[in-house]
Amino acid sequence: MADVEVYGKMLSTLPDDDDHPYRSGAWRHPLHPAIVRYHPFDGDGMIHKVSFRDGKVSYRNRFVRTDGLLAEQEAGRSLWAGLAENPSAALRQDGWGARGRMKDAASTDVIVHAGVAVASFYQCGDLYRLDPLTLDDLGKCSWGGSFPSDLGVSAHTKVDGRTGELLFFNYSTTAPYLHYGVVDAGNHLVHYVPIDLPGPRLPHDMAFTEHHAILNDMPLFWEPDLIARGLYAARYHPELPARLGVIPRRGGPGDIRWFEFEPTYVLHWVNAFQDGDEVVVDGFFQGCPEPAAAGAGGPEGRMWRFLAQDAMQARLHRWRMNLVTGATSEQDLSEACTEFGTINSGFGGRPYRYTYAATNEPGWFLFNGLVKHDTLTGREESYQFEPGVFCSEVGVAPRVGGAEEDDAYLVTLTVDMNRDLSECVVFRAGDVGRGPIARAQLPERIASGTHSCWAPGDSLRGWA
Ligand SMILES: [Fe+2]
Repeated sequence: MADVEVYGKMLSTLPDDDDHPYRSGAWRHPLHPAIVRYHPFDGDGMIHKVSFRDGKVSYRNRFVRTDGLLAEQEAGRSLWAGLAENPSAALRQDGWGARGRMKDAASTDVIVHAGVAVASFYQCGDLYRLDPLTLDDLGKCSWGGSFPSDLGVSAHTKVDGRTGELLFFNYSTTAPYLHYGVVDAGNHLVHYVPIDLPGPRLPHDMAFTEHHAILNDMPLFWEPDLIARGLYAARYHPELPARLGVIPRRGGPGDIRWFEFEPTYVLHWVNAFQDGDEVVVDGFFQGCPEPAAAGAGGPEGRMWRFLAQDAMQARLHRWRMNLVTGATSEQDLSEACTEFGTINSGFGGRPYRYTYAATNEPGWFLFNGLVKHDTLTGREESYQFEPGVFCSEVGVAPRVGGAEEDDAYLVTLTVDMNRDLSECVVFRAGDVGRGPIARAQLPERIASGTHSCWAPGDSLRGWA
């Protein structure tokens, strides 16, 4: 383990409950220049891991050794076209992703399932397994030989901590356009069904309750007539509704029920739960899913407009669907522009109260602070980092022995552009406004990142 400097109150504030490995990533570090134009989603996935144990904090990082990364390392250059490039720019004819001719960089998300870390790619690809402690390469998920290698799997697989199941989806540009599946706690695929959609869509995330999975059909998607010409341009269609599909967790294709809502695009859901006859889903409603070009315009401006959550006017929102009457309702839960909300995962799929979301640097894909939303009272508590300091999504680490949902620590990794360093920063979830209660400097400044997760030590292979 790398040596790290620990200061602040780390050692005095995590005395009895430091059995808290924190995993973060995957973050993106491009190893080779883009063929034409780099997009922040193109970088190679790197996992950063911070663990708390026996009064000490340790840190480790490692690239995810994807097939694409290894091929580009051997070639010494980029071989696949990135998100802001035309697929025809790729030097290789093959590739991954719903668009095709992309590199699966396993750079979007990381979760812990069946005892190991699993990194994923937003456009669908392989799922890469890493030792949760050493980050050693453990190969790809095979799920007993049943992994859907033809389409891959999207980022934002969901782990139900109470059942050990992993829920997932994938999407493609050919019918039936969407699949949903379940992997059991033993890491075997036990359910995989096609879901019909009106056309190709771009779902990024899903949600679940104790009894249902929630899929989505949002009216922002690649124009079908352009796809036929090999072009992939996302356009918003406000004349179409946003649709949420509720399917029993082991339901067949005919069991999904669709509910219509105000048009929007939702990048991330926060949580979902059942409330009587209603399924309640919380996520971030975009008031402006297709903003005008940011900054100076041109290709860069067109790219950045889809990256800044303030431009997209993303706000915490609640959607309700009555499974008996079919009635729906929806409302904003906050006026603040936030996204990337995390929760105490012990409340995943169940009634919950708090989410911890990020605020962004206006116009940028950088997080400059966090907001604790209380969905019961509407109360919000926020913390803003000093200018030039940016954080990741927070991992929520429940305090061992704690009973309250927010009796937990929030753990984030920062990028400090003023002092050219990175830190692991810890907050008390119950007192976000107080600011960090502990911090540990990492050996080097890391690239800014987004998604993260936290997992308890006893859920990790090799921890005991
Ligand atoms: Fe995401």
